[in-house]
Amino acid sequence: MKLNIALLAGDGIGPEVIDQAVKVSDAVAAKFNHEISWTPALTGAAAIDAVGEPYPDETHDICANSDAVLFGAIGHPRFDNDPSAKIRPEQGLLKMRQKLGLFANVRPTFTFPSLIDKSPLKRDRIEGTDLIILRELTGGVYFGERGRKDDGDTAFDTMTYQRFEVERLARKGFEMAIKRGKKLCCVDKANVLEASRLWRETVQALEKEYPEVEVSYEFVDAVAMRLIQWPKGYDVIITANLFGDILTDEASVISGSMGLMPSSSVGSKVSLYEPIHGSYPQAAGKDIANPLATVLSAAMLFEDFNLPDEALAIRDVVNKSLAEGVVTEDLAEGGKAYKTSEVGDWLAANI
Ligand code: IPM
Ligand code: MN
Repeated sequence: MKLNIALLAGDGIGPEVIDQAVKVSDAVAAKFNHEISWTPALTGAAAIDAVGEPYPDETHDICANSDAVLFGAIGHPRFDNDPSAKIRPEQGLLKMRQKLGLFANVRPTFTFPSLIDKSPLKRDRIEGTDLIILRELTGGVYFGERGRKDDGDTAFDTMTYQRFEVERLARKGFEMAIKRGKKLCCVDKANVLEASRLWRETVQALEKEYPEVEVSYEFVDAVAMRLIQWPKGYDVIITANLFGDILTDEASVISGSMGLMPSSSVGSKVSLYEPIHGSYPQAAGKDIANPLATVLSAAMLFEDFNLPDEALAIRDVVNKSLAEGVVTEDLAEGGKAYKTSEVGDWLAANI
């Protein structure tokens, strides 16, 4: 198979972790006789610096004309403490999600046998966790009406959802659940928010079309608690944009490190693959960041192109690196800490 992949390294540790995912993907391509052509494009603070815009049209054209997008991270501290900044790197990511129609963000949470004891949670609670948070990605409070009034002393962001937005996400959730544990949990705040009541109503109306799926409805505050108390109680969770953003960071604790969790964003023709972690500016340029989340995002990419053996090859080599202690400092625990690039080289050599 020939794959054209847009490569958006972005900011902070983005370029370093992306490099490792490219090495590993190229090794997979060589082993299974595929051809990957990578087209780099600018995004985030790097794009603001170069052309004054975090998701330039040229980058969008490259993404829209590729088979998939592999994305590193976005964000730079010089914008974080400047509330007056009009252009922010994160806007690039939001614009990209919207322009590429990526309405569903698939964020799996699973455990790695060799890392169970690295999680701050107890082994018996988390061992065998296998859940997916399906986060709505192009609506909700991230994209609703916002602004200031009263001479700037009042600020508002609104959570708006349309029925079709909930329905298309929920259908993906049902379809995923059918292929997995057949359980779907709609996570909302329907006791308070009107938008959440629309979510419930919409999901309830779909239930009869998917009789084999057991559906539950839970409030997001309670799920924040249950997710770490008993994650094995969940299979597929569907939830709104902001709720999903928060719950997926929380869920990453289950697997032991934020540096491990991959994601895909899907919706229309071109899908995007990215680690769920951010740009980790403190580590940028030091060759110490954990590249595994990005490498595992590449595995999700292969899987979506119906190449399960290729995806498995990546997951196997990642498990092997963890078991053999070929890990970056976040996982080294007093043992030898490998550099980001060394982990990438090792993975590629062992594919
Ligand atoms: C994520 C990130 C982004 C989000 C930021 C960088 C805009 O936190 O992908 O989870 O909030 O969606
Ligand atoms: Mn987030």
